[in-house]
Amino acid sequence: MPSGSIVAGALAPHPPHLVYAANPPQNEPRAECGWENLRWGYERMARDLEALKPDVIVVLSPHWQTYIGTHFLGVPAFKSLSVDPIFPNLFRYHYDLQVDVPLAEGICAAAKERGLVTSMMRNPDFRVDYGTIISCHLARPAWDLPVVSISSCRSTAFYNVDVMQEQALALGRATRQAIEASGKRALLLASNSLSHRHFTEESDVPEDMSREHIYNHHQYLWDMRVIDQMKRGRTREIWEQMPEFVEQAVSEADSGALSWLLAAMDFPDYPAEVYAYGTVIGTGNVVASWTPGGAV
Ligand SMILES: [Fe+2]
Repeated sequence: MPSGSIVAGALAPHPPHLVYAANPPQNEPRAECGWENLRWGYERMARDLEALKPDVIVVLSPHWQTYIGTHFLGVPAFKSLSVDPIFPNLFRYHYDLQVDVPLAEGICAAAKERGLVTSMMRNPDFRVDYGTIISCHLARPAWDLPVVSISSCRSTAFYNVDVMQEQALALGRATRQAIEASGKRALLLASNSLSHRHFTEESDVPEDMSREHIYNHHQYLWDMRVIDQMKRGRTREIWEQMPEFVEQAVSEADSGALSWLLAAMDFPDYPAEVYAYGTVIGTGNVVASWTPGGAV
């Protein structure tokens, strides 16, 4: 079998607002508009990623939270309604997704060999988390590729960022190893925002963009620092400063998604393509990708 590869790795955050504002047929609530900079950036990235002809999407979501080890969806298909627990007024999404179970099993086994506690999730009635659904929707709206969905085992919360990164390193290397063995072309998605302080009150009209703005200058500066490092290919610096970033910007990278992505891609030393940066209820979101094969 030919060697598989990671064709791109993207930071693909999952604010439900971005799906809401685009009014896709799968989502029940209707919006007037909103968050155009991020949505149009996502559209450009999706077009570039499609041109790389991936066979499968591998996504790690902060909102599939598992408490004993890392879990992987292990049923060929899931179809149900996903309702955001915080924003049920914005996201009631009818999803219908296919899973690449053999690749999920391959990553699961490779991670176990590297000492991680892993488990395949075999419940056909399981409700897929909205982070996985939103990142996949925005990065590949056609839903024409199978998905491997990986949980966040919350080791930052249970231990600390160093433990999270040690596990992310093993999980990333296992992901790469299993993709290469599969012969497939994989697109990786880290489904997290950067800074993550957010508003505590919603405006009467959620898509009222006169109310959307940066929440805090210090966390904005953190986002700019990380994005600058991404644009200069300095991903090992991002890795090394992760404890400070997570603590000071309350970053959703605490989930391990970004660390996993960097480890799986063997710490890119070439620039990321940054498609957009913007806030959603004050959280900092960057839409960006690294393409090992060069410019798309
Ligand atoms: Fe989130």
